[in-house]
Formats: sequence, structure tokens, C-alpha cells
Amino acid sequence: MTPNRDSFSAIVLAAGKGTRMYSTLPKVLHTVCGLSLIERTLRALAPLQLVEIVIVVGYEAALVEKEINAVKNKLKLKTPIKIALQAEQLGTGHATRIGAAVLSEKVSATLILPGDVPLLNSPLLEGFAESFSKDSAVVSCLTTNLSDPFGYGRIVRNDSNEVVAIVEEKDCSAKQRAIGEINSSIYLAEISFLKNALANLSPQNAQSEYYLTDIVAEAVKAGGKVSATSCADSLKVSGANNRLELNKLESYRRLELANQLMLSGVTLEDPFTTYLDEDVTVGQESFIGAAVKISGKSVIGRGCRIEGSSQIKNTNIGDNTVIKSFCYLDSANIGSACQVGPSAHLRPASVLEDEVKIGNFVETKNVKMKRGAKANHLTYLGDATVGEAANVGAGTITCNYDGKKKSQTTIEAGAFIGSNSALVAPVTIGAGAFVGAGSTITKDVPDHALAIARSKQVNLENRAKGK
Ligand code: UD1
Ligand code: CA
Repeated sequence: MTPNRDSFSAIVLAAGKGTRMYSTLPKVLHTVCGLSLIERTLRALAPLQLVEIVIVVGYEAALVEKEINAVKNKLKLKTPIKIALQAEQLGTGHATRIGAAVLSEKVSATLILPGDVPLLNSPLLEGFAESFSKDSAVVSCLTTNLSDPFGYGRIVRNDSNEVVAIVEEKDCSAKQRAIGEINSSIYLAEISFLKNALANLSPQNAQSEYYLTDIVAEAVKAGGKVSATSCADSLKVSGANNRLELNKLESYRRLELANQLMLSGVTLEDPFTTYLDEDVTVGQESFIGAAVKISGKSVIGRGCRIEGSSQIKNTNIGDNTVIKSFCYLDSANIGSACQVGPSAHLRPASVLEDEVKIGNFVETKNVKMKRGAKANHLTYLGDATVGEAANVGAGTITCNYDGKKKSQTTIEAGAFIGSNSALVAPVTIGAGAFVGAGSTITKDVPDHALAIARSKQVNLENRAKGK
């Protein structure tokens, strides 16, 4: 019976440790362009209108489940997700059996896929599901050809070119080892066939594991049809077994993202050293210098200039803003027509309204800089509000922390803070007020007042002579 496309599900195998990663983190929590492998898998599955997605977890199950829940909320996933626990990792066949056991009755066929294929995408899976629906097979394998197939399960075909078995590297004969067509470990299977086949698996092989791959030979034995779809772009179906493979896939994706940006009207000085996370957006006619990293959910407006070697994380930037070289921006909100850097450090909750100027060696944290405010050199602003067009002179420090608690500094519109001043919070500098250079301000300064808080200069005539 041809399974009905409306009742497909997916089983994601994510119980393995990822031994070859040499990591305490389970493999599916490693990332590609800022997204965990399990999130990338769920993003590929989300649009497929599946009845449900079963994720088989095992190694560090609680950690993986936490990430799954976070992803579910973040993406507002509609497809129901079930978690199945594989307490002992006895192989991909065993994991699938545990996953299949919790599938709902109405499922007619299921995708089976590993959770470590970062470049997988929905159209590819949809095409695979369509051909499976048409070809009345009990199981279909997604395969690809590799010039170096070492380590993968090989697709064995008979003289009529029909798939008859998948043989793991360690179980291959010399002749089988020469086969370049490999198993991506992505399958579609009709459900009653699958359950039977999984029940029949035995661990009689080189790794003493229950191999999922053996369901192909099971199908042939039972007289069921096996089909295969070959994917021309092998990277799209490649799993990452170690950090080298993971990096190859990430580098590929990173360049794809860079290319997309260029084609959408953004100039990249050097796409090979531009590091972009998956969800970053950059407006038309912006320029991104060499060795810039933009990560997380950063949004850069139009006509911006991000100069080389800056790092921007979870930060929004308006239009026509310039970020000069060597800036480090984390969770900041920057308006339009601002100038930041070189070498500025904007820490979380730094909010710059339009036309703000932040110069070199300025650090801000939990600061609101209102329109046109300036802090051009060597300054620390923490827990502060800086009013419109106020000017914070070189070397100004807001002393916001007394060792126990943080306090607020308010600098009102048009105020001028002279160089090398310390503003001891809580303190307010009134609108249009002027603080003399080198002052330590501990009391509020009224609007339009001139505050000088430093010892008076004494000049002793001729005293320097003979010293
Ligand atoms: C598997 C295939 C191989 C294929 C390759 C593609 C088998 C026996 N071999 O080999 O034919 O070419 O993928 O990358 O299936 N997992 C569990 N529980 C387990 C074991 C594994 O959930 O007990 C999960 C892993 O977390 C992983 C996936 O299954 O996501 C694949 O396991 P892995 O060990 O990477 O299989 P390979 O040896 O690469
Ligand atoms: Ca693998």
C-alpha cells in the first residue's frame, strides 16, 4: 500500500555521544553558524507538515532535551515533538526501534535521519518524500557519491542496478570498499515494514551493533521494493563525525551566507574571512570589512560601514552607522548615523540613539546615550544615561559600583564633562552644566552650573630651580 503523504513522521537519531568529537558536549549540541545541529535538523523538518517528530536521545539526554525545548519555543514549532530515551547506545537500528515504538497509530511512513547533518534542508527532504510516495517502495535511501567514501556504509546494487544491501566500512569486502555510492543515513520507510524489519535485526557484525542499514537486506528478503534517491550535492546530506568534518560543513555554509549577502547588495571586503551566523541580516549597500564576525540575532541596517576585525553579537544597528575597526559589540542597540570605535567595547544593554559618537577605548554597559551624545576617548560609562548632545570628555569614569551595589549616573542634555573626571554614582549632572577637568563629582550638579572638584593649583615661584 502506498503510504499517504499526509501521515508521515520523522525519527531523529540523536542518542550517540559523538565519540570522535572528543567532547563533553553531545554532538548534536555542537554548532554550525551559530545554530546547534539539532536546531538545524528541526528547522529542516519543520516545514514538512509531519504528523510528529520523534527524537531519540541518550548521551546527556537532559542537556539535549533542554536544547530541544529551547528550539521549540524559539521557532514556535507546530509539529508535535516526542522524546524517546535510548538508555544504552546499541546501534542505529536499536535507536530507531525505540523511536518507532512511540509513533502514533496514524503514521503511515517515517523519515529516519541522524541529528548531525547540518546542511540538510526542507526542499531536499520534500523531494525525497515525493519520490518515495510515488515509487511504492517499503524503504528508500538517500544516497550520495563520494570520491573518498572511507568510513561510510556502501550502497550495494545488483546487476539490474537495484539496491540490495548497505554494508558498513568495517564489514565491507575489498570489492565493496571500492563503491563510491554511500548511505547518508537518511531513509523513508513504510511503517509496518519498518517495525517488522527492526524486530528482525541482529548484532552479528563487526561492531556488534544493531545496524539500521540492515533493514535494506530485510526488505529484499521479504520481497519488498527498495528505492534510492541520489543527492548530487553530498555536503547537503553529510553528517559531521569529528571537528574537522564539522568545520568543513560550517565553512561551506558560512560562504553560502556571505554569497547571499553579496547578491542582496552588501559589499564584503573579504567573504572568506566574514563570519556570519545563520540569522544575521544586513541591509543593502552596507559594507563589511575583512575579518568581521557578526553572530547571534544581529540586525545591521542599510548603508552601514562595519570596518575590519570587529565582532558584533546579538546587536541591532540602524542605517548609515559606522563601526570602525576592532570594536566588540555585545547585545547593544545602536541607532542610525552613529559612529563607534575604533576599539570600542559596547556591553549588554548599551543603547545609542541616532547620531551618537563613541570613540576609541570607550566601554559602555547598561547605558543610554541620547541623540547626538558623545564620548570620544578613553571612557567608562556604566549604569548611566547621557542626555541629548551631552559631551563626555576624555578619561571620564562613572564610578557605578561601590563594592556592594551599582548606582546610576544621569548626565542631562547638553552637559559637558571635562576630561579625566570621576562621577561617583548615584549622581546627576544637570542640563547644560559644566564639570571642570579632573573633578571628582560626588554631589549633584544643578542645571547650567559649573562644578569644579579638584585641589587648587599652587605655583611656587622659582622653586623648580636647582632641583
Ligand atoms: C551511519 C550508518 C552508515 C552511514 C553513516 C552516514 C549505520 C550502522 N551506519 O554510520 O551506513 O554511511 O551513518 O553518516 O547506521 N545513534 C543513536 N544511537 C545509537 C547509535 C547511533 O542514536 O545507538 C545516532 C547518533 O547519535 C547519530 C546517528 O545515530 O546521530 C548515526 O550514528 P553514527 O555513530 O554517527 O553512525 P555512523 O557510524 O556514522
Ligand atoms: Ca555519523
